[in-house]
Amino acid sequence: MQSANGKLAVLSVGLGAVTTTFITGTLMYRKGLTVPGGSVIEMAKIRVGRGKEKAYKKIKDIVPVAPMDSLEFAAWDIFEENAYLAAVHADVLKQKDIDPVREELEAIKPMKAAFDKNFVTRLQGDHVKQGTRWELVEQLRADIRNFKAERGCNRAVVIWAASTEKYIPYNEAVHKNLADLEAAMKADDCVNISPSMCYAYAAIAEGAPFVMGAPNLCIDIPAMWDFAKQQNVPIAGKDFKTGQTLMKTVLSPMLRTRCLGLSGWFSTNILGNRDGEVLDAPENFKTKEVSKLGVIDTILKAEEQPELYGDIFHKVRINYYPPRGDAKEGWDNLDIFGWMGKDYGMQIKVDFLCRDSILAAPLMLDLVLCADLAQRAGWSGIQTWMSFYLKSPMHNYVEREEPIHDLFQQYIMLKNAIRTMGGYEADEELD
Ligand SMILES: NC(=O)c1ccc[n+]([C@@H]2O[C@H](COP(=O)([O-])OP(=O)(O)OC[C@H]3O[C@@H](n4cnc5c(N)ncnc54)[C@H](O)[C@@H]3O)[C@@H](O)[C@H]2O)c1
Repeated sequence: MQSANGKLAVLSVGLGAVTTTFITGTLMYRKGLTVPGGSVIEMAKIRVGRGKEKAYKKIKDIVPVAPMDSLEFAAWDIFEENAYLAAVHADVLKQKDIDPVREELEAIKPMKAAFDKNFVTRLQGDHVKQGTRWELVEQLRADIRNFKAERGCNRAVVIWAASTEKYIPYNEAVHKNLADLEAAMKADDCVNISPSMCYAYAAIAEGAPFVMGAPNLCIDIPAMWDFAKQQNVPIAGKDFKTGQTLMKTVLSPMLRTRCLGLSGWFSTNILGNRDGEVLDAPENFKTKEVSKLGVIDTILKAEEQPELYGDIFHKVRINYYPPRGDAKEGWDNLDIFGWMGKDYGMQIKVDFLCRDSILAAPLMLDLVLCADLAQRAGWSGIQTWMSFYLKSPMHNYVEREEPIHDLFQQYIMLKNAIRTMGGYEADEELD
């Protein structure tokens, strides 16, 4: 495992609510003005060793996590406003929690974005690059190189926290083989090559881990997995697991463990930030819906318990409701049953009054730190151990691998990865 010496460039695609909340909080934390609540990598203690050797240690004391002071922030966005103005505009944090780091935020001026309005119809911005898909890749590669050189960084991580792109289906003719993907980029195929693919390709080409925080297809295709392996770069995605899906991946294992049946799960959200506005467009919501719907089936395993889980009605809705801003409300209604069947059905109601970006920001920090750890450990390709943070965890679907959604199983995977990287035995088992 390589040490964490030197600086780490953290390049975020998108300088919106989540990114500005993440950067502001991280800057406040390194000034000692807040605690990193929600960051497992910064706060959790885990067990290493067994028997007499057993010890509980902070993750930071097991593996060489990049120190907070070594992070250098950059971003791309279609709007020109700096990180301070973007944070004020996002209206997540109070002014008193932004002002102490105002100067540092003002210094973060977004680079021009690789953007295509056809992929996010609700947004209009003019701070964008021009060129074919392949030219965009080259410009993005130059951005990464230049930023690293300018700040004297020896490593970089690129993380997507930009708007969810419209749904594009997997197209085997373009997305399976790396040569076909590159040919499509060179041919400027604007149907099958999304802007997010340009960022991912550029990052991997520059040897920087790439993390996808939205549900975009992007790196979730065999051509990108192969490219990441070839370049020796870790990748992870998709979609930050923050509110409602976090609850789903906690409640579903409870039902399964107690052999309680499920006949329906209705989930709806109201939120009023820019993300909510983008997701109000049906073609963008479709990407999110696919990501949100997959979760419970793989946990409940209908094929093993058809009497309990063979007939579930699962529906997910997101409603744009401006008065709420970033303070999303997520409602869930579960219709469950057990002893003597559905005639004695019961209901569980969850009303999660959350704050989207407050939940997502520590995930962004942890994903960056984990991706950097993986890179220094020499782990390349899909990092399934990072599924803990992701709503739609990447897995090799070509080889029919199943994703792990259960939060507790995901935590075992995370802890085992940390133990292995720290030179300990991976000693907890998935069932
Ligand atoms: N907050 C959560 O709980 C949560 C959970 C899971 C996923 N996400 C995803 O994270 C992403 C960010 O969420 P947010 O609330 O910060 O949204 P936001 O709308 O506040 O910020 C997104 C930013 O990305 C910019 N952008 C759009 N396309 C771009 C491109 N091609 N290149 C560069 N910049 C681009 C937009 O201009 C905007 O400033 C969204 O895709 C959202 O779905 C958020």
